[in-house]
Amino acid sequence: MIITIDGPAGAGKSTIARLLAGRLGFRFLDTGAMYRAMALAGVRHGVAWDRPEQLAELAPRTSLALAHDRVYLDGEDVTEAIRSSAVTAVTRYAADNPQVREYLVRLQRAMAAGGDVVTEGRDQGTVAFPDAQCKIYLTAGAEERSRRRLADLQSQGETRLIEEVLADINRRDQQDASRPVGPLRRAPDATEVSTDGLSVDEVVQRVQEIVEQRRGARHPSDRL
Ligand code: C5P
Repeated sequence: MIITIDGPAGAGKSTIARLLAGRLGFRFLDTGAMYRAMALAGVRHGVAWDRPEQLAELAPRTSLALAHDRVYLDGEDVTEAIRSSAVTAVTRYAADNPQVREYLVRLQRAMAAGGDVVTEGRDQGTVAFPDAQCKIYLTAGAEERSRRRLADLQSQGETRLIEEVLADINRRDQQDASRPVGPLRRAPDATEVSTDGLSVDEVVQRVQEIVEQRRGARHPSDRL
């Protein structure tokens, strides 16, 4: 079974998807980490960001792996490195690149093939897994998302003003929604869950209920 969780930056997708996958015994696919890692590969190889073909050529020559909650780029653990503000700032060059997207979507499908997976990102229910059995669209207000992002950054030792983080979040929302390939959009068959004012446990519970409903809906005889 494939469960997709899409939504804007800071809605809590990674936290919820990771916990949900743990509860269900599913694998967890953090696709944002793949775009971040590809951007870091670009930095390390010194690609020119105004020459998208350079990153497109680099992508298939790069080894990307997600294992045990760690992200590996060409065999090196880059789990922390891809979360820095410097990498976040250039990740859009990977996310806006149609060839890189095509390559990573193919990789995501291969990673999920035949398994039980919770996958999270922006285009998982719309582009990568349009036939997924259960689709969630996770949202929260921009202020709440900024507070969460600030707390994340602080835990990594970065000092920022909440106003700067809010401006970043608004800019990323704008970029995510206006991207010509794989834009952030709620799939018509996705269930929207707002996380405003809810604890992490409450959100996981709510999402798990939706998953159980979808499982039941697909197999009506299971409910007898
Ligand atoms: O979710 P996270 O912030 O780690 O994602 C990093 C960036 O990668 C996001 O800003 C988003 O624009 C992009 N992304 C994407 N498609 C995905 C996942 C992430 O374009 N499936």
